[in-house]
Amino acid sequence: MHHVYIEDIADYDGQEVTIKGWLYNKRSSGKVQFHIIRDGTGIIQGVIAPNAIGQELYQKCDRLPQESSVILSGRVRADERAPGGYELDVTQYEIIHEADEYPITPKEHGTAFLMDHRHLWLRSSKQQAIIRVRSEVVKACRDFYDERGFVLVDAPIFTPAACEGTSTLFETEYFDTKAYLTQSGQLYMEAGAMAFGKVYCFGPTFRAEKSKTRRHLTEFWMIEPEVAYLDLEGDMRLAEEMIVYIVQRVLERRHKELKTMERDTAPLEKVVPPFPRIRYDEAVAQLVKDGLDVKWGDDFGGDEETVLSQQFDKPLIVHRFPKAIKAFYMKTDPEDGRLALGMDVLAPEGYGEIVGGGQREDDLKVLGDKIEQHHLPVEAFQWYLDLRRYGTVPHSGFGLGVERTVAWICGIPHIRETVPFPRLMHRLYP
Ligand code: 4AD
Ligand code: MG
Repeated sequence: MHHVYIEDIADYDGQEVTIKGWLYNKRSSGKVQFHIIRDGTGIIQGVIAPNAIGQELYQKCDRLPQESSVILSGRVRADERAPGGYELDVTQYEIIHEADEYPITPKEHGTAFLMDHRHLWLRSSKQQAIIRVRSEVVKACRDFYDERGFVLVDAPIFTPAACEGTSTLFETEYFDTKAYLTQSGQLYMEAGAMAFGKVYCFGPTFRAEKSKTRRHLTEFWMIEPEVAYLDLEGDMRLAEEMIVYIVQRVLERRHKELKTMERDTAPLEKVVPPFPRIRYDEAVAQLVKDGLDVKWGDDFGGDEETVLSQQFDKPLIVHRFPKAIKAFYMKTDPEDGRLALGMDVLAPEGYGEIVGGGQREDDLKVLGDKIEQHHLPVEAFQWYLDLRRYGTVPHSGFGLGVERTVAWICGIPHIRETVPFPRLMHRLYP
């Protein structure tokens, strides 16, 4: 019989089909059994009568543990009361594997337990919805740049030096020398932008984050565009356009998943241009007004970001930070030497920073001095300085953190559920 995926079941009303999946749940009325089957694309209820499959198999089915793998065939019948709108009147039932007693029973479990069983937890409907949204977000990012003529330039994972400060570097042996896991593909994207004009990379990045917050992973994925001849204002527009594109895409194509997660989509529908833009100075004034203990020159943490982003119902762009709190590569504001031409995008609903970026320092001398001031090994940056020796131009880019973006879009409090197998300070298993 014809194998179909449950998500396509509506095309087969009245026909005989085969479903290959796992037993999700079951109940019995005495006369018949109802087995809820999942196959990764959806769930469907199979109605099983003893005379349809034989008494012996019927008894076996009655004792079958959750998550046993099964193949069943039967006729598709529309039923308004059924979870997916259809039921299957089962004519054949094949048990592929009788599972051990499944540890994730429908009762409530703590996060530590669920995270220890992440490889199984991924089978639950909410986790599937999150990972499907993630998959859509990644696709949307790629489509956004591909449609605009950007070239995908993959950045290396092993690197000779720090990009985002030495305090969060993962060091690893590399034959007879040391290497570091990349914190950001940015520096390589700058080389790419000088070669191709506009480029992006998408890959895993690593930070030895000792902070245990709901926004930090040690391994996370970033999408990083970089554009030659783009200034800070253009960079902010690009980030705005991209975020709108991603949110619209998820609203269009992942409505079902958002519903599974009980995500209120009204706040997401408000994500349209223009986003509010405020300078760092204004942000500090606002925070002080809200009673936070912040002074000019402080970096914002999660609390400050939450307070700022809650003032608006769209993503908020904060720009022109004190250069002392920003990375060595940021260009100094020509209008105020205390400031760097950086920008962050803070997601609404208290989600905090999802994008960091800005205009890059393009002057050889200034950049060389900054590398020294930041106590970075200048030899390891000679290739990067070459980009300022051979045809330097104003250029900008940013990085969007995939997990934080997915957490916001899904409306879930902790980013550990937005990645299939999260890596945190105290989690390396499974
Ligand atoms: O602001 P960050 O550190 O910027 C950079 O790495 C730039 N070099 C990017 C660029 O301009 N090409 O990181 C960018 C984004 C943050 O806004 C956040 O979304 C995410 O990456 N991020 C993290 N996500 C999860 N866990 C962490 N530990 C993260 N650190 C940053
Ligand atoms: Mg940042």
